[in-house]
Amino acid sequence: MEIIEKAAAKINLGLNVIGKRPDGFHDLEMIMTSIDLTDTLTFSSTNDNKITITSNVPYLPTDRKNLIYQAAHLMKKKFALNQGVRIYLDKIIPVAAGLAGGSSDCAATLRGLNKLWQLNLSLEELAEIGESLGSDVPYCIYSQTAFVTGRGENVELLPKFQGFWVILVKPQISVSTPSIFKQVNLAAINHPDVQGLRQVIIEQKLSEIPVLLGNSLEAITARQYPIVDKIKTKLINYGADGVLMSGSGPSVFAICRKESRAKRVFNSIKGFCNEVYLVRTL
Ligand code: C5P
Repeated sequence: MEIIEKAAAKINLGLNVIGKRPDGFHDLEMIMTSIDLTDTLTFSSTNDNKITITSNVPYLPTDRKNLIYQAAHLMKKKFALNQGVRIYLDKIIPVAAGLAGGSSDCAATLRGLNKLWQLNLSLEELAEIGESLGSDVPYCIYSQTAFVTGRGENVELLPKFQGFWVILVKPQISVSTPSIFKQVNLAAINHPDVQGLRQVIIEQKLSEIPVLLGNSLEAITARQYPIVDKIKTKLINYGADGVLMSGSGPSVFAICRKESRAKRVFNSIKGFCNEVYLVRTL
C-alpha cells in the first residue's frame, strides 16, 4: 500500500509573545493560516522494521535529526508496531524560513502513518501526539486557519482566511528560532492585537486584516538581518495591502486582495530577491 500526504507551509498573520514559561518556552497568541506551497510525502510499507527516508534534496538529514524520522519512531514505539516504512519527501518549502516546513512534514508523517498502519486516530489525537515533537506540529496536523495559544498546543479552528493572494519572499539567510526567542524582552517588544485578528476572521471582516497584521519577533530578527525591513518597504511601495515577517523569520509575506496587484508586487520583488512565490491561502 502507498499513501500520499501533502504538507503545507504556514504563515503567521499574528504572533504575540505573552510570557516566558518555566520550561524555557514562551506563551504565545497566534493566528496561523496555511498556503498552497506544499511538500509531498509518500509512505510505503516494508518488512524490515526500519524507517527509511529519502528526498529530492541532498542537504536534509534523513536520520534521527529529521522530524519525519522522529514522528515515525514515536508512532512505532507508542503503538508497539514492528512494520517498517519507506518515506519519500519531495521538498518544496524553504527550510529554516519561518514557514513551519519541518513541522508540517512531521504532521504529514503522523497523518500518513495513521492511514498506512490503519490506526484510526482522530486529528485531535494526532495533534496531541505531535505536541512533544514541536510547537507548530499540532497546528500543522489541521493546517487550516486557527487561533493558536500556549506553546502551540491549543488550536482553535477558525473560519477560512480566503480571497487573498500571498507573495512570499525568502531572503538567502537562515534564522535560528531559539536564538530569536532568547532575545525577547517582554517589556520592549510590540504586542500585536491577535485577539482583534481572531475576531475579524470570525466575523469575516477580512478587509480589516492588513492593518492588524503584527509579529512580536519581527523587530528582533530585523535588527539582526536588515534585509527583512528592506523587503517589507519594497513590498509596501509596490502596492501590497499588508506585509509581515512570518514566525521567527526570515520569510516576509505580502497580502493582496486583487490578483492584478498581487502579480505586479510579485513581478517587482522578483527583481530584488530570487526566492519569491505567488500563492493563495488554503
Ligand atoms: O518547539 P520547537 O522545537 O519548534 O521550538 C524551537 C525553539 O523555539 C524552542 O527551542 C524555543 O527556543 C523556541 N520556542 C519558544 N516558545 C514557543 C515555541 C518555540 O520559546 N512557544
